[in-house]
Amino acid sequence: MPTLVNPDLITRSVNAIRSRIDYPIQAAVVLGSGLSDLATVDNHIEIPYAEIPGYPASTVMGHKGSLILGFQKEISVAYFLGRKHFYEGDGIDKTVFSVRLMAALGIQNLILTNAAGGIREDLLPGDIMMITDHLNFMGINPLIGKHYQEWGERFVDLSGLYNRQLLQYAMAGAKENSMILHKGIYAAMSGPSYETPAEIRMLKMLGADAVGMSTVPEAIVAAQHGMRVAAFSLITNKAAGQQESLNHAEVMEAAKKAMPELRTIVDSLLSKIDAE
Ligand code: HPA
Repeated sequence: MPTLVNPDLITRSVNAIRSRIDYPIQAAVVLGSGLSDLATVDNHIEIPYAEIPGYPASTVMGHKGSLILGFQKEISVAYFLGRKHFYEGDGIDKTVFSVRLMAALGIQNLILTNAAGGIREDLLPGDIMMITDHLNFMGINPLIGKHYQEWGERFVDLSGLYNRQLLQYAMAGAKENSMILHKGIYAAMSGPSYETPAEIRMLKMLGADAVGMSTVPEAIVAAQHGMRVAAFSLITNKAAGQQESLNHAEVMEAAKKAMPELRTIVDSLLSKIDAE
């Protein structure tokens, strides 16, 4: 049985961070596979996950495992470099630990990023898709288990999970920078194997535009805490059956190439949040 995450453990992890900074954090950004370089801030403080009590280390290649705090222009941001995936096998509450921590730190805006396979024909490697809704095929819900009232409702409304205001900001930001930002539905699978071509055909029939192995548990927990969520999929490959074969190196490579575009979109979203 994995160690359970509870409010006391979260309080200890909050204290570890609060002892390093004396300002409130306005937004958090979770950087997925190969996207760690996106975190560039002023007054840079780096806290390795290992120094945060209870924080699970990620074991995945391409995931760095630390928290970067600082400022981008006027806005204070926490970048989470690397995430804990459900497929690592340490339990879903470890997967969403970072989001419970953010909420306890008072962070109200969450930007999630991931690498994903493109299912819809027009989504090609290097494209960025803003998630408007999801299909949860992970076989788990992160709210299963003991319910702590201080974390929010037991039965959480997900009808407006991906925040419309943040979506509009990101769309406007992309337009201002003459960039194309796609919109679509993200299907979450547990992984870690990639999908079969038949599974991709099924997901397509059900309305999925892209597929990946993360983001959904974090988004659900953020909703429980009443945080605003924006989520971006960086399309790193065409989904199974639509290209010859898939591998992690290719995913990392494509993520690296498209990073400048994603940075522009995230930066402009952050500045619009700051201007509110
Ligand atoms: N499937 C699932 N996860 C992924 C993919 C994919 O095709 N590409 C990047 N992450």
